[in-house]
Amino acid sequence: MAKLSISILSADFLRLDSEIRIIADGGADFIHIDAMDGQFVPNISFGQFLAHQLAAEYSLPHDIHIMAVEPERQIEAFLTDRTEYIVVHYETVSHLDSTLKYIRSLGVKSGVAINPESPPDVIGRVLDCADQILIMSVNPGFGGQKFNETAIGKIKHFADMRTEFGYNYEISVDGGINEDNIETVTAAGADILIVGSSIFKATDKVRVMHNIRELAGK
Ligand code: DX5
Ligand code: ZN
Repeated sequence: MAKLSISILSADFLRLDSEIRIIADGGADFIHIDAMDGQFVPNISFGQFLAHQLAAEYSLPHDIHIMAVEPERQIEAFLTDRTEYIVVHYETVSHLDSTLKYIRSLGVKSGVAINPESPPDVIGRVLDCADQILIMSVNPGFGGQKFNETAIGKIKHFADMRTEFGYNYEISVDGGINEDNIETVTAAGADILIVGSSIFKATDKVRVMHNIRELAGK
């Protein structure tokens, strides 16, 4: 059954408490925390202080997606006892194997993200150091973009590699996931579905959350 990692980037920040209670009640497996630096991506979102406050208030584990240059400088600041994954971008890291091993050495799961224009082969040599392969299905930096279909081929590629070579990573997909494409994404082999605006921008968030949980469970 696919897991749901809910991106709070599109939540109403002034009502974050009630927004998080909706996703918790709706069966979220993780809070997806999009950390942005205004350099690797155009926007600045939120930082480590929010991660620490969330950790103190809610029991949901954190899936931390760092979209920043020199992400190594940020990793430890985001670490809490709720941290499940810390994901860095291939496009920002000089020594990816070392960074992924460093994340694991902190006692949490390591992840590597690749942008839509990065071919899957670029991370071929670090697949044994990653616990999560995050396939961007939009350009990073903004919620609410349209799903890029090239992600489907990448999901299948990494699912095939895992079968062929016995890797242990989970495959996640981030960007533009909604009730219409969630089954296709899951059928391609995704284990973790990262969903933001299709829940938080909906009029009836509870219903959408319920539908997504049902569809992801198939
Ligand atoms: C984009 C972020 C995503 C985004 C997903 O840079 O990494 O996590 O918030 O949101 P939606 O579901 O709106 O595409
Ligand atoms: Zn993200």
